[in-house]
Amino acid sequence: MALSKINPTSTEAWSKLASHFDKTQNQTLKTLFETDSSRAKKFTIKWNDFFVDFSKNRISEETISLLLELADQVNLKEAITAQFSGKLINETEGRAVLHTALRAKKDDTVIADGNNIVPEVFEVKANIKAFTDTIISGTKKGYSGKAFTDIVNIGIGGSDLGPAMVVEALKFYKNHLKTHFVSNVDGDHVHEILKELNPETTLFVVVSKTFTTQETLSNATTIKKWFLKDASQQDIAKHFAAVSTNTEKIAEFGISPENVFPMWDWVGGRFSLWSAVGLSIALSVGYDNFDKLLSGANEMDTHFREAEFSQNIPVMLALLSIWYNNFYGAETEAIIPYTQYLSRFSTYLQQGIMESNGKSVDRGGNRINYESGTIIWGEPGTNSQHAFFQLIHQGTKLIPTDFIGFKHSLHGDTDHHNKLMANFFAQTEALMNGKPKEEVEKEFELVGKAISEVDQLIPFKVFEGNKPTNTILIDKLTPRSLGSLIALYEHKIFVQGIIWNIFSYDQWGVELGKQLAKNVLNDIENSEIGKHDSSTIQLLQYFKN
Ligand code: F6P
Repeated sequence: MALSKINPTSTEAWSKLASHFDKTQNQTLKTLFETDSSRAKKFTIKWNDFFVDFSKNRISEETISLLLELADQVNLKEAITAQFSGKLINETEGRAVLHTALRAKKDDTVIADGNNIVPEVFEVKANIKAFTDTIISGTKKGYSGKAFTDIVNIGIGGSDLGPAMVVEALKFYKNHLKTHFVSNVDGDHVHEILKELNPETTLFVVVSKTFTTQETLSNATTIKKWFLKDASQQDIAKHFAAVSTNTEKIAEFGISPENVFPMWDWVGGRFSLWSAVGLSIALSVGYDNFDKLLSGANEMDTHFREAEFSQNIPVMLALLSIWYNNFYGAETEAIIPYTQYLSRFSTYLQQGIMESNGKSVDRGGNRINYESGTIIWGEPGTNSQHAFFQLIHQGTKLIPTDFIGFKHSLHGDTDHHNKLMANFFAQTEALMNGKPKEEVEKEFELVGKAISEVDQLIPFKVFEGNKPTNTILIDKLTPRSLGSLIALYEHKIFVQGIIWNIFSYDQWGVELGKQLAKNVLNDIENSEIGKHDSSTIQLLQYFKN
C-alpha cells in the first residue's frame, strides 16, 4: 500500500482552518485563559512519566478539532499502519521505514521483504551486548594487553549525531570509558582528538551505513595510519569495529568480520541510533541502559500507534506545528531543553527534522504550493535565555517553542534544580503574558519615577506576549524517558511529512552535495580546473596559487 498523495490544501479541513485562522488570528492567549478556567487541563496529555501541556498555544477546541479533521482527511491512520507494517513508504529509494523494529519486543513480528526481521534484530542486539560487555569489563584487551580506556566513534550525520547526543544526554549513567566523536572532514577535528589518545588502549568504531561517505572514510584512514605508526596490521582486528550495510567495503578497509555489525536498508541514517550505530552508546552506558533506551522508544511507538489522535503526543505536537507553519507563517521552531545533558538535542533534531521534511516536491512529483519543513534551533536553558531569548520575547518573528524539563534532577541538588525550574516555568508564562504598558508604568511608579519622566522608555519595556509554547515535563532524565522523548520527535516528523504530502525518508539534496564535492576535489588535486562558473573558477585558482 503506497501512501496517499493528497494535497493538504485541497482538503475541506484546510479550507476550514484557513477561515478559522482569519477569524481567530488576533486572539490572545491571556484572554483564552481568562475565559476558560479548565483550559490547562483540556490541553494537557499525561502519559507514562510525561506531562505535556500545550494549553499555551493560540488554539481553541475548534482549532484542535479542525486539525484532527485534517489528519483524518490526509489518511494519517492508514499511513501509520503502512509504516509499521513495513510498506515501502520511502518510495524514491524503494525502501521500508522500520527503525521502530529496532526497538520491537522479542515476540513482536515485523515484516520486511516478506520476512519477520525481529529475530535478526535480536541477534545483532545479542552481539552488541557480548561485544560491549567484554570491552567494558576489560576482558577484551588491546594489542599490548591493556584494557581499553577510550572509544572513538568515526561517522557523520546520522552515524554521529544520534550517538553523540545520547552519550552526552546519558553522561550521568556513564562508565569509565571515555567516548570521542570524529565527524568533520576538517583535519582539525581528527588531529585534535588523536592528541588525546593512546593507540594501545583505544577502540575505534567506524560507523557508516554506506561505507562510502568521504568524511568517514578519510577520518578512518587517517586514524588507521596513525594507529599503524605504533601497532601492526594484525592489531587492527583488535582495535577497529565497523557498523555498516556494506560488508565488502569493510573487508577492503581491513576490519575483521567478528567486529562487524550489520545495518539494514530499512533504517534511515538519521533514525539509526537504535541499531548497532548506537554501539558507542552501549559502550558508554552499558548494554542494559542501551536496552532501556530502546524500551522507552518502544513505549512511545505503542502510544503513537494506539492512542486516539486527540490524546496522542506526537500527533498533537505535529498538528500544532502545522498550525503555526502553514497558517501563522512561522518559519522556525525553537527546542529548549532545561538540562545541560541535552545540550546536543536540538542539533540532533536539526538533522532528523530538516533532512526529513526539507522538501519542496510532493509525493506525486509536483512542486508544492505551501510551506513544508520548519527550521529547528535551540540550546539548553537557562544559557539560551541569556543569548537569544530576547528575539523570542520582543523580536518581530513568531517562534513557537518547546520547553523540555524534568521534575527531578539527577544530581539531587535542590537549590540548583529549583532555580532552573523556576526559570523554566517563568519563561513560558512570560512569553504568554508579556508585559503590558500599565504594568511597566506601575513598575516605574513603584521606584518613584513619574510617568512623564520615563514616558519615552515605556515602549521599549513593553512585551507583547502571546508567544506560543509547549511544555514537556518529564519525571526524570533516564535512558527510558530519553528513548521516549527521541521517539516522540521521530513520530512528529512522520506526521508532518504525511500531512505535507512529501517523502520524509530520502535526502537527495545531501546526495548532490557529496557528488559536487568529489568533482571539485579533482579540480583541486589536478592541474586542470573543469567546467564551472567564473566565480568558482576564480576562487579555485586563488586557492591553488
Ligand atoms: O547527510 C546525508 C547522509 O546520507 C545522512 O542521511 C547520513 O546519516 C549521513 O549522510 C552519513 O551516511 P553514512 O552513514 O552512509 O556514512
